[in-house]
Amino acid sequence: MWPAFEWQDERLILLDQRYLPFEEKYFNCEDHEDTAKAIELMVVRGAPAIGVVAAYGVVLGLKKYARFEPFYLAFDIILDRLSKTRPTARNLFWALERMRKIFESVRNEDNETIINRLLAEARQIEAEDVATNKKIGEYGARLIPDNATILTHCNAGELATAGYGTALGVIRRAWEEGKKIKVVAGETRPFLQGARLTCWELRRAGIPITLITDNMAGWLMQKGEINLVITGADRIARNGDTANKIGTYSLAVLARENKIPFYVAAPFSTIDLKIESGLEIPIEERKGDEVRKIGDCWITLPDIPVKNPAFDVTPASLISAIITEKGILYPPYDQAIMSSDNEFNEVP
Ligand code: MRU
Repeated sequence: MWPAFEWQDERLILLDQRYLPFEEKYFNCEDHEDTAKAIELMVVRGAPAIGVVAAYGVVLGLKKYARFEPFYLAFDIILDRLSKTRPTARNLFWALERMRKIFESVRNEDNETIINRLLAEARQIEAEDVATNKKIGEYGARLIPDNATILTHCNAGELATAGYGTALGVIRRAWEEGKKIKVVAGETRPFLQGARLTCWELRRAGIPITLITDNMAGWLMQKGEINLVITGADRIARNGDTANKIGTYSLAVLARENKIPFYVAAPFSTIDLKIESGLEIPIEERKGDEVRKIGDCWITLPDIPVKNPAFDVTPASLISAIITEKGILYPPYDQAIMSSDNEFNEVP
């Protein structure tokens, strides 16, 4: 079993990531409203995990509310609520679009058949995500030299997906292949996904991990202590511009300055073929208190104005390669993305 969530006895159980690494508490979702709240509050987070959990949320919502509304109306209300939780991760909308397609194909069937078909689709999205991440790991590990020290940001691991992870899946696979790698995790202020989640995950996997504050990365690169950077992605535009956790762009600039490869690992479900460049990616702005506090502890005056964009966009020109389940994509990314359905871009 992978740790982030599990569909169990008609309920969705989430490992509450707000309490990691100190406590392993669980959050039960009984309907789509619980699921939407869990996504908003970041009980569960990470683009692929959000997508899968939202798909299960559709099923939970229909089970609970179908009796009170015309079925198609309940479906629209549920989808609308879930799609308004977090705006940046493409996988959320991708998963909900898949659920809508299934609903449309069975909408004239009885309610039980519709729910069963939607549950089967949610399970399928979950299973595909694990398989996809293993494939990403397989391709990506080819880019990891033995004895490499790898810098990662945020958490793009088993906690952020249905299992195995994307950026951490690449690291996991390189480790499984026997490469003696070391990982450096940036703490990832303000939500501390690096310090709390990546450290928890890699410690469990037995992979050597060192934590740094976000502002130490440049110095370590300059001293030659980092061999490559690898991160996940929340949304990738057709030209390869990539939205990921705030701070990713700074790392890509530092990597270029220090001549270090900067890789993005993500499934095709993160690529938004409808948008041409990163300029069109909506960036979530979260509550100011996440910046004014660390956990429950205030670190400034409670009324100090702050900014809290949850993501930034790294221009494609700073990305050495994008590792997907269909192969490793190299620039120009628009061509690589469009042609990768037919052919894999293998490591040169
Ligand atoms: O705000 P979060 O924790 O949901 O942000 C997560 C990230 O930025 C991840 O790097 C991204 O979703 C990829 S997870 C495989």
